[in-house]
Amino acid sequence: MSHTARIERALEAAVAMAQADDAAPGLAAALRYAVFPGGARVRPQLCLAVSAACGGANPELADAAAAAIELLHCASLVHDDLPCFDDADLRRGKPTVHAKFGVPLALLTGDALIVMAFDVLARAGVQDPARLPGLISCIARGVGAPYGIVAGQAWECETSAPVEAYHQAKTGALFVAATTAGALAAGADPAPWRALGEGLGAAYQVADDLLDALGDCEESGKTSGRDHALQRPSAVTSLGVQGAVALLESHLDRAAQSIPDCAGAKALRETVRVQATRLVPKQLARSAA
Ligand code: IPE
Ligand code: IPE
Ligand code: MG
Ligand code: MG
Repeated sequence: MSHTARIERALEAAVAMAQADDAAPGLAAALRYAVFPGGARVRPQLCLAVSAACGGANPELADAAAAAIELLHCASLVHDDLPCFDDADLRRGKPTVHAKFGVPLALLTGDALIVMAFDVLARAGVQDPARLPGLISCIARGVGAPYGIVAGQAWECETSAPVEAYHQAKTGALFVAATTAGALAAGADPAPWRALGEGLGAAYQVADDLLDALGDCEESGKTSGRDHALQRPSAVTSLGVQGAVALLESHLDRAAQSIPDCAGAKALRETVRVQATRLVPKQLARSAA
């Protein structure tokens, strides 16, 4: 089964746990709406790619880790779009969860997705209890305080924020969770996989800053211009468009070079190369050509 099919199957099983004939219908619908159809699913793909590169043992645990990470990512998007954060009305080409279901249900949807992520891990961990605590901590660090997504969003509540720490927390940390959880699920040492997550996460957020600044809602499927309107720290504000593109390329190089020697290193380098070409906003790729 392809990695894409494994990810969608695991997400479907997770969301199904929150659906019941006697469930509150608004929340049940909003949960499904927040997860399907997905975006790029880049974090769970990365998790499964690293797991496969490490030998692919215990695929059920890898699938659970991948699904948990994507559920946490979806939760972060629902909360990020709320009026108290980025106040965005478009996400993945459709109205944001609060625009469609209202703010209270959007808040609860994010909360329920976070809880669901850890339930998915707990259920899969029954088959391999020894690996579960490490996996839970690794994924929790990617989303919590002091260095995960929550901390990244918290930097926006300060009068100024160091752009690198802000990017690393709001985006890099979950990419690190994806690579290291992939290794852990396969029974490998997670430490050598941190740099890949850091490099890809940093590249991904610079690409997102470029997309936001270039204002192509059609390409991004989400409300653009929020960084400038809300005075968020952004690689484009700090370095300009060309500087941000150069930084994006250097992060991607660093990521590709960091891949440790292992049976699947060659295939993984190819995956990173394909992701890299996808990251440069189309508008810039066209003008460079
Ligand atoms: C958006 O992430 C938020 C960032 C951290 C840049 P993605 O670009 O991965 O969003 P989806 O999942 O594809 O919609
Ligand atoms: C990305 O924040 C990380 C999150 C915590 C969602 P952004 O606000 O930059 O992401 P987009 O551009 O809305 O996807
Ligand atoms: Mg934001
Ligand atoms: Mg946002």
